Amino acid sequence: MKKILLSSTIVFISIAVTYSQTSFVGAGKAVNPFHYEIVKTKTFSKASVASAHPLASMVGAEIMKQGGNAFDAAIAVQLTLAVVYPSAGNIGGGGFLVARKTNGQTIAIDYREEAPGKASRDMYLDKNGNAITNLSLNGHLASGVPGTVAGLFETYKYAKLPFKQLIQPAIDIAEFGFVITESQAHGFNVTKESFIKNSTQTPAFVQHNKWKAGDTLIQKDLAETLKRIRDNGQKGFYEGKTAQLIVDEMQRGNGIISLNDLKNYKAKTRTALQFNYKDYKIIGMPPPSSGGVIIWQMMKMIEDKPIASYGCNSTKAVQLMVETERRAYADRAEHLGDPDFYKVPLKEITSSTYIKKRMIDYDSTQATPSKNITAGNVKEHDETTHLSVMDKEGNMVSVTTTLNGGYGCRTVVGGAGFLLNNEMDDFSVKPGVPNMYGAIGREANAIQPGKRMLSSMTPTLVLKNNKPYIVCGTPGGTTIPTSVYQTLVNMLEFNMSPADAINSPKFHHQWLPDVVRVEKDFNPTVRKELSAMGYNIVETNSWCRLEVIKLHTNKQQEIAADKRGDDSVAGF
Ligand code: GLY
Repeated sequence: MKKILLSSTIVFISIAVTYSQTSFVGAGKAVNPFHYEIVKTKTFSKASVASAHPLASMVGAEIMKQGGNAFDAAIAVQLTLAVVYPSAGNIGGGGFLVARKTNGQTIAIDYREEAPGKASRDMYLDKNGNAITNLSLNGHLASGVPGTVAGLFETYKYAKLPFKQLIQPAIDIAEFGFVITESQAHGFNVTKESFIKNSTQTPAFVQHNKWKAGDTLIQKDLAETLKRIRDNGQKGFYEGKTAQLIVDEMQRGNGIISLNDLKNYKAKTRTALQFNYKDYKIIGMPPPSSGGVIIWQMMKMIEDKPIASYGCNSTKAVQLMVETERRAYADRAEHLGDPDFYKVPLKEITSSTYIKKRMIDYDSTQATPSKNITAGNVKEHDETTHLSVMDKEGNMVSVTTTLNGGYGCRTVVGGAGFLLNNEMDDFSVKPGVPNMYGAIGREANAIQPGKRMLSSMTPTLVLKNNKPYIVCGTPGGTTIPTSVYQTLVNMLEFNMSPADAINSPKFHHQWLPDVVRVEKDFNPTVRKELSAMGYNIVETNSWCRLEVIKLHTNKQQEIAADKRGDDSVAGF
């Protein structure tokens, strides 16, 4: 018998599901995949995790209880998300990690997917040179070479516990199952036809009846893939049986990922971006993510303005921030791409003189039309996932990882049980020409074999007086940097708590299209005032799912998970 209780307040939602289980071995007694709660905000003294799913957060906290550090937890959380949050958690996608060790060392790991060896610049164009966008979105050809597993092993250099201990919870939950939430049931039901169309073998997410909250999802093939990673390390994914299953799947569809592409994939350690903002130091991800650069530019554009006196989401504050967003995104499209393939002018576009110049035509009384700001734009999807972790030593880990669209390209690798990404669509399918969504990409992000597609993922850390202060990030495609920006400004300038900072209504401008997206609960008076100043306001569904940890001077870790999803915190 299954029972679901749902109670909701501003800060606490509880889903309790009981299930007559017999065989669960589990991630320790503390984590029961058949009975769990969504917790939105708490304060812990030793260890904190926020992620898109309560089970993943609980596994992360449990790993730290067993003696692991924030890196151990970040690995275990990602592996668990690959099981319990298949719309974005993954081993078939990629991501970025930004971390700071308690000794002051900063770390940036790039495990972004890359274009297969057989990829070519015009691979998504028909014979007349028109973009066939569906090919870069759905099915085998949309997938880049996955980077997540290599990223986990690169992260493992900083961890403490045996890898087997970090992956076992994910294996057990895949093998014996977990109960799904209402939003997951909805996701599986609405994506059913697409799973069937784009997979050559029936995935675990497809069943005859409609899914409902409290149903159990068992993923035996995925459990076996995870066991191969447990037993053979990185090679358990990039070589041997799993690699062969991926290539077999490619051959049953129209895919091009080869055994060599998989064998040659490497996660790359990059130099984290760092800049000062007033008393704070902000640490972010460099290209091929655009996130760190955009945050740098936008924060520096407001640094000399008395924004604290304007108030959160006031017309004055929003107008100023929209203008900074417009300018930073114009630069993103022109200048940013994979630095191993394109000379990104990083020093120039983050210099104080340059950033100051970008705001010379800023007018606080009216909108600057985007057509007066030069540069281009690229299109992205908004199904990604973020996790924030802090341990008792003060190690901070911020990870954003993605399949790109919800459930990636909707192709499950037959016999291996995991979804592939559709990250190829983050390249400019046709440089210099608007794609079907009106977005324009340029040379910096054109397709080349082995190149990594431009991202917006923005895992971010903040130090105050050189001490750990904030761990932050979100999914949301191109909206990621603006959501992180607004959350940082809410906390650093408007002195808001993590929960209030992330839950306050968000707005987004990305240069083109020249519109300001706002959430449904955005202040109607501010909307009217912005419209009167020449802004085109468009209300849309919510787009972010922020996870934030703030370390107080008394060493208490205040943590909050976004109200907008099943996101949940755990710790002790
Ligand atoms: N696919 C979303 C991003 O990388 O920004």
